[in-house]
Amino acid sequence: MTYAIPFNRPCLAGNEYKYIAEVIANGHASGDGPFTKRCHELLERELGSCGVLLTTSCTHALEMAAILLDCGPGDEVILPSFTFVSTANAFVLRGARIVFSDVRPDTLNMDEARLEALVTPHTKAIVPVHYAGVACEMDAICAIAQRHGVAVVEDNAHALFARYKGKHTGTFGCLATQSFHETKNVTCGEGGALVVNRPELLERALVVREKGTNRSQFFRGQVDKYSWVDVGSSYLPSDLLAAFLFAQLEGRHQIQKKRQRIWEYYRDHLQGWATARGVHLPCVPPECEQAFHMFYLVLPSLEYRQGLIAHLKTQGILSVFHYVPLHTSDMGLRWAARRSECPVTEDVSSRLLRLPFYNDLTEAEQARVVAEVTAFRR
Ligand SMILES: Cc1ncc(COP(=O)(O)O)c(C=O)c1O
Repeated sequence: MTYAIPFNRPCLAGNEYKYIAEVIANGHASGDGPFTKRCHELLERELGSCGVLLTTSCTHALEMAAILLDCGPGDEVILPSFTFVSTANAFVLRGARIVFSDVRPDTLNMDEARLEALVTPHTKAIVPVHYAGVACEMDAICAIAQRHGVAVVEDNAHALFARYKGKHTGTFGCLATQSFHETKNVTCGEGGALVVNRPELLERALVVREKGTNRSQFFRGQVDKYSWVDVGSSYLPSDLLAAFLFAQLEGRHQIQKKRQRIWEYYRDHLQGWATARGVHLPCVPPECEQAFHMFYLVLPSLEYRQGLIAHLKTQGILSVFHYVPLHTSDMGLRWAARRSECPVTEDVSSRLLRLPFYNDLTEAEQARVVAEVTAFRR
């Protein structure tokens, strides 16, 4: 079925086709070409990180993080149940067990007040997810991690260019991961990045990303041949994707401005209705500068949510829900370190609905969405 107003639509920022043509002219379409380097430099400068490495997805960046932390059997990793499967899968692939944390009812971020009770001597890492582009309470999370000598890996898939107390998300943990999947603010269809915030992790990250070889040392002239030196995989994207991504990154200010307008339109036009109907809208604490990644509604009941999705569908508007709580999934039950209590996650995930949100969404399209949301009666 095609929708008059889809949930997401790929949007151009300007120079994508021009830069892709340049890749062909350059004669370097595989990984780590000129556009990959330009993306790395731009992101490192913008975020203030010592190393950013493009990857084929955020999923792969998370897998790299699990390898770099030497996660394995006997280790536990704490992450929210309310997240995408990749946040957990990356660590399960190494044999680690998952400890599922619940989320706060306001921001839907990892509940830092309940976090310390989940830490054990086996805890290897804490993985906060900055849900909907709004930062977790990083002061509290980092303090707990530090007290227990545990690594922090930020899943920053939603929150590129967001800030917590003035500092970019993705720069608090020793490692962080980005997504450039087509639903994200800045995209190349499928893509991601590993943000390396500790210089001592950078050299090994390069090896893991290049199939476990020291190929990048070879290209820097530091060794006379390259060989297999560590575990790894093929985590680097083609320079064709990097070219597309670089055009989007160059357009980041324009993209963020458009998304801010879209987010504020939804808020301004739905706030009164939401208050009257007991609907929860996204909450942005004062210490957070959000990334304007998504706009969601937490509706009064599952029946209301399902009815509204069906109603919008009849009007040619696609709205979606997520996440099915990981701790109740087959794999979550199999890989949980112990029984998980996540009542807020279970409650919210049955009532949350995401509205159409893409860079070129027009005010007229939004007006239609708002009109249908507010007209719906169950
Ligand atoms: C929180 C979170 N982490 C990781 C991912 C995986 O991202 P990717 O599709 O780039 O692998 C997603 C996907 O949207 C996500 O929502």
